[in-house]
Amino acid sequence: EHLSGFVIAVDGPSGSGKSSVSKQVARSLGYGFLDTGAMYRALTWWCLQQGVDLTDADAVEAAAQRFPLTIGTDPDAPSVEVDGTDVSAAIRETRISTNVSAVATVIPVREILRRLQRRLISDTGRANGGVVAEGRDITTVVAPDAPVRILLTASEEARLARRSRELHGAADADAVAATRSQVVDRDKADSAVSEFTVAADGVTTIDTSDLDFEGSVEAVLQVVEAARA
Ligand code: DC
Repeated sequence: EHLSGFVIAVDGPSGSGKSSVSKQVARSLGYGFLDTGAMYRALTWWCLQQGVDLTDADAVEAAAQRFPLTIGTDPDAPSVEVDGTDVSAAIRETRISTNVSAVATVIPVREILRRLQRRLISDTGRANGGVVAEGRDITTVVAPDAPVRILLTASEEARLARRSRELHGAADADAVAATRSQVVDRDKADSAVSEFTVAADGVTTIDTSDLDFEGSVEAVLQVVEAARA
């Protein structure tokens, strides 16, 4: 199925900066923005809300089939609603971060959300001329034909420091230590879904370890320009 508009697919692990960087790239190009991780997080929130046993894959799949999600694709107002409830803050809570892998590793759930993601990418691309979609499997599975596909990486050290600043407002030794188990454990859980780790053919890897936010945005925009030339 062909996706409409100019699609920029960005994948990367947590702490690579992919969400904030992708959002800014979308803003500067006047494109839409889709955070697919927010969809897995929102489904996790909905399952917990409905009392679904997350170890029961059939029950999680059933929840995904009737998942009343509304997700905004404006990079300046990326809203996430489930059945009319704004969950944009709730889906960032630790109880979601620690449970989301149980949902995201259910294969039929991934198929349901991927179908929805392709539709959102197409609609947003058509409406805005283009869309930046970020996640873990966008370059490989959701939009493998996208004209721009980027894998943002960063050393474990750099990712820990960024997460630590987000969670604790600091990146001193104590704050980093408190963040370590979260980042390392989630990396391990995420790697259970195989297509995440390595750059597929035709995917440009950008290592952001030594780049600041602006530098990372600039690096992505350069790849976009090169693809257009
Ligand atoms: O990027 P994030 O931390 O918000 O992602 C939340 C979780 O969702 C993470 O555990 C990986 C999973 N995810 C996924 O399986 N596929 C995607 N396209 C995006 C996120």
